Amino acid sequence: MKKPVRIAPSILASDFSRLNEEVRATADAGADYIHLDVMDGHFVPNISFGASVIKSLRTCTDKIFDVHLMIAPVDPFIEAFADAGAQIITFHAEAGAHTHRTMQAIKAAGCKVGLALNPATPAETVLPLIGELDLILAMTVNPGFGGQSFITSQLDKIAALRAMIDETGRDIDLEVDGGINFETAGKAIDAGADVLVAGTATFTGGRERYAANIERLRNGG
Ligand code: DX5
Ligand code: ZN
Repeated sequence: MKKPVRIAPSILASDFSRLNEEVRATADAGADYIHLDVMDGHFVPNISFGASVIKSLRTCTDKIFDVHLMIAPVDPFIEAFADAGAQIITFHAEAGAHTHRTMQAIKAAGCKVGLALNPATPAETVLPLIGELDLILAMTVNPGFGGQSFITSQLDKIAALRAMIDETGRDIDLEVDGGINFETAGKAIDAGADVLVAGTATFTGGRERYAANIERLRNGG
């Protein structure tokens, strides 16, 4: 079941010297989720921020914190992100051998669980686990950096994931992440996505543009 399109601004593209204000401004501008990209310099070739920063931002808004872990290993850090106020914790299928164990640990910590797939990882990877997932994240760039170009070949995968989700009849978000802008948002929505992560496209043009940017993305660009 495809739900209304929701926008999840990635604060990776915001002004890090003013994170508190940026999160508030994004929330006020109509964000549905706040997307928090955690990078460890090991699973991906970049380092961003961790649980303590997320915890300090928790006081800024009661919007859903959608935490995207680009880290390996995952399991030792789940408690810390749950304690920091994450409502959804998404980790990568490529991050370790015991995906199902990690899913169980995230649920036991009281969070919704998402599974992310890199561009080279087939859609079918989710099939054995789909009955227990709350969110599937299709990467449309190689994770690690904001501001990259949307990989168009992923549209077929998004459509395949949409069909798999609909087959279950379960309430599972289909989120796309990377290179979403006013040209690609509509393609991702048409392929079946119902949550769009948008870093660069949200924060372009200064704070007075955030609301218009979010609304335009929601409408497919
Ligand atoms: C990439 C991150 C994305 C990134 C998106 O590794 O997972 O969430 O911030 O940035 P844009 O929207 O600029 O491609
Ligand atoms: Zn992300």
